[in-house]
Amino acid sequence: MYYPAYRPRRMRETETLRRMVRETRLSVDNLIYPLFVVHGKKVKKEIPSMPANYHMSVDILVEEASQVAELGIPAIMLFGIPRKKDEVGSEAYLDKGIVQQAVRAIKKQLPGLAVITDVCLCEYTEHGHCGVITDGRIDNDATLPLLAQTALSHAEAGADMVAPSDMMDGRVAVIRDKLDRDGYTHIPIMSYAAKYASSFYGPFRQAALSTPAFGDRRSHQMDPANALEAIREVGMDVDEGADVVMVKPALSYLDIIHRIRQEYDLPVAAYSVSGEYSMIKAAAAAGWIDGEKVMLEVMLSIKRAGADIILTYFAKDIAKLLGK
Ligand code: PBG
Repeated sequence: MYYPAYRPRRMRETETLRRMVRETRLSVDNLIYPLFVVHGKKVKKEIPSMPANYHMSVDILVEEASQVAELGIPAIMLFGIPRKKDEVGSEAYLDKGIVQQAVRAIKKQLPGLAVITDVCLCEYTEHGHCGVITDGRIDNDATLPLLAQTALSHAEAGADMVAPSDMMDGRVAVIRDKLDRDGYTHIPIMSYAAKYASSFYGPFRQAALSTPAFGDRRSHQMDPANALEAIREVGMDVDEGADVVMVKPALSYLDIIHRIRQEYDLPVAAYSVSGEYSMIKAAAAAGWIDGEKVMLEVMLSIKRAGADIILTYFAKDIAKLLGK
C-alpha cells in the first residue's frame, strides 16, 4: 500500500470512524477484582502502598462485593490474612479460615458473583514462603498436599474457581485430583502458570503481609529473562488440567502473554499486579501522568497482547468508565 493511494489518516479522521475500525475493546466481562480479607468486624483499613485498596473484615467485604457485582464485574479474587501464622500455614486450609468464611458470606448474599480464591501458603506461613521448609529449602513435594487441601477447603466453602499461585511443580495435578475425588469435578482451576519472580509484587507483600523472612522466591517463581520456559510451564499446567492459564505480571510481560495466546487455545488471564497499579497511582497523584488515560491504555495493551481475562486493582475504575 502506497501513499497517496492509501492514506491511513483517512480512517482516523473522526471518532465515529475510529470507533468503527477499533480492533481491541475493553469489556467489564473480562475483569477480575482482587480483594483482601482480614479477621474482625467493621474493619476497613487502606493499604498504604495501594491507594483505594483495603484490608476488609467479612461484613465490609460483603458490602464491597455487592458494589463490585453492581458494576457488572463478574468475579473477585480473594486473598486472606490469617489470625496466626505458623510453620505449615495451617490457617490456609482451616474450614473456619478467613478466606473460607469470606467465601461463605459472599456466596450467601451474592450467588451470581464468581468468587475465585488464591491458593498459596505465603500469607499463612510465619516465614512467608509459599511452601513448607525442610533443611532451609522450600520442600516441593511436602507442600503439594497442603495446597490440595487448601483448594478443597475453598471449594467446600463455595468458591467458584481456585487459583494456585504458589509455583510448586505438579500442584495443578494434585489439586485437580483432590477436587475430583471429593465431588468438585465442576470447579475450574485458573493456574498462575507463568508467574515470574518479579519486583512488581512489592506493594502486594505489604498488603498481604507475606514478605519472606529470609531469601526470596527465585527458587520457584520464574526468571524474568526466560520466555521459552513460560511455554513449558504453561504446557505442564495445561496437561495437568488447568482451565485458565495466567501470566503474571502483565505489563512487563506482554510478549509472554502474546506467545502463550498463540501457543495454547485455553483462556489466557493476565495479572496486572500491585506494582503496576501503584506506579500509575503514584505518578498520577504527583500530576505527572493522566492516571485514567494511562490506566486504560495499559489495560488495552494487555488485551491487545492476547489476554482474555485481566486481574486488576483498577477493575472498579474501569467498570465505572465503561459504564458511562
Ligand atoms: C502469592 C501471590 C502474590 C501475588 C499474588 N499471589 C505475591 C507473591 O508471589 O509474592 C502478587 C499480586 C500482586 O502483586 O498484585 N500468594
